[in-house]
Amino acid sequence: MENKIKRVAEILCGSNLNLALTGAGISVESGIPDFRSAGGLWERYDIMEYASISAFRNDPEKVWQMLKEMGAVVERAHPNPAHRGLGRLQQMGLLYAIITQNVDNLHQEGGATRVIEYHGNFKTLSCLWCKRRYSLKDVEGQMPPRCICGHILKPDVIFFGEAIPPDALHESNKLASSCGALLVIGTSAQVSPANTIPEIASRAGAKIIEINLQPTILTSSVTDIFLQGKAGELVPGIVDEVEKLRP
Ligand code: APR
Repeated sequence: MENKIKRVAEILCGSNLNLALTGAGISVESGIPDFRSAGGLWERYDIMEYASISAFRNDPEKVWQMLKEMGAVVERAHPNPAHRGLGRLQQMGLLYAIITQNVDNLHQEGGATRVIEYHGNFKTLSCLWCKRRYSLKDVEGQMPPRCICGHILKPDVIFFGEAIPPDALHESNKLASSCGALLVIGTSAQVSPANTIPEIASRAGAKIIEINLQPTILTSSVTDIFLQGKAGELVPGIVDEVEKLRP
């Protein structure tokens, strides 16, 4: 494993544009359960009943039961060494952008400056009817939170059946098709179109470096270097090796 980490550090230092694609796994060590591992959110809540835009439109109060549980966990979470390690790589100029499927804001709180929020962010909410926008603070204590027009607000996260924010989609595909290395951290790569990013990068000649507790569908198809283990341990290990190469 040590040689692999050294090799990853060399690749990052030798490339002029590195990216990261992160999923829920990078925030598990911050106390936020992922979605598809044992005990994950989708084991307790049916995706189509609680995480689709049609479910929200039909019964927003029911969907807010799941959102309330998710929000309480996100509220208590803090960046872990993996978030901070990616922030450090960005400060060193070795990580141009982080494309994240997560909505927990932990990359930003971990020092990252360029974060592409592929599935939106939990920190703001919108009214589907009158389009007014709110911060979480504006609606503190309300469950479910309501707009002044009376309708129940929706967090600015992308539900199943909603389009990826066009800017995030375009920017991610553009960067993926010109990056030298892509770190893929803590994602099962089961949700499209986020799971096409590694393929786009690989086709463009990028080195795909995957960090996960276990192999995924990417590991045998596009991954060049697979680091099996916890993101909170492996990412700091990579940063340590990079700092040795760039004193
Ligand atoms: N370190 C590294 N990887 C981890 C860790 C960890 N500490 N803990 C879990 N993982 C891995 C799991 O093995 C799994 O492969 O992270 C991955 C998490 O996969 P999912 O739960 O499917 O989460 P994600 O890939 O982000 O889901 C994508 O699906 O439900 C939607 O919108 C939601 O953004 C989410 C999308």
